[in-house]
Amino acid sequence: MTFKNEKVLDFYEKLPFNIYGDLKSAEEQIKKFDPLVIYPELKKIFKKFERIKIIDFGCGGGWLVNSISYHHRNKAQVTGVDFNPVVIDYANKLKKKLNLNSKFYSSDLFTFQSNIKYDLIISLGVLHHTNNCHEAIKHICKSACKNSFLFLGLYHKYGREPFLNHFRDMKDKSEDFKFNEYKKLHKNINDEKKLYSWFRDQVLHPHETQHSFEEISKVLIKERFSILSCSINRFNKIQNLEEVFSIEKEQYQYSLNKIKNCEYFPGFFITIAKKE
Ligand SMILES: C[S@@+](CC[C@H](N)C(=O)[O-])C[C@H]1O[C@@H](n2cnc3c(N)ncnc32)[C@H](O)[C@@H]1O
Repeated sequence: MTFKNEKVLDFYEKLPFNIYGDLKSAEEQIKKFDPLVIYPELKKIFKKFERIKIIDFGCGGGWLVNSISYHHRNKAQVTGVDFNPVVIDYANKLKKKLNLNSKFYSSDLFTFQSNIKYDLIISLGVLHHTNNCHEAIKHICKSACKNSFLFLGLYHKYGREPFLNHFRDMKDKSEDFKFNEYKKLHKNINDEKKLYSWFRDQVLHPHETQHSFEEISKVLIKERFSILSCSINRFNKIQNLEEVFSIEKEQYQYSLNKIKNCEYFPGFFITIAKKE
């Protein structure tokens, strides 16, 4: 059974997310940035393994897959899956240019099958664009075995609301107007094409859902995962899940203040869990 969303595939085929420069500049970006520096929490997981098998569901142009492969080629075997053949082709070209051992599959994540079990399963900004986020979570969890880690990024039920309302209030305005308003928030990107790609993804997307940490924790616990940490409490060790379920509601006010101060906060959260 597939919950893939055709409108979403069409949206990304027309303009893939975060592919904005030529291959040369993408190659330079990969060489320059080690994702384990950008994501210290990933680094902590990475350190637990001597060799590590990683899979990224909805890998887009493969920046994360190819960057990990480039900076950690003797330790990591990294695989990317995406249903958009355009991004898989791009990711493969970069892999070839950099002579990496990464692997890419052009496949809907709901129909992707592999006998391999991965030590680390990543999915960032993807499952909320499917027709059934919970089923998508269950599906990617099939690639886990005992002690596998999950690094999952989704739009947040409370934190996303002020951002969405901000742009809903402009529903009668032109795309150019909205893009200009978006630029006022997202100040750390200078490249116009990159900025447009992010704007399009976050403001013009044909389908997204939002989720609470409480809801996602419950789905993962049923899949026999222990919840380790989340971005909502700045990745501190979770002693009591109920406490985090209670503080996550504060994300609404936090996000509202960000919008009022013209600061960028799209309402995204990361959950880290471990298979029992
Ligand atoms: C917002 S982009 C995120 C890309 C990447 N994870 C990143 O962080 O840059 C969402 C990606 O998910 C992919 N995607 C969405 N639904 C999918 C599905 N059912 N199966 C596989 N890929 C999917 C899209 O093609 C797109 O590349």
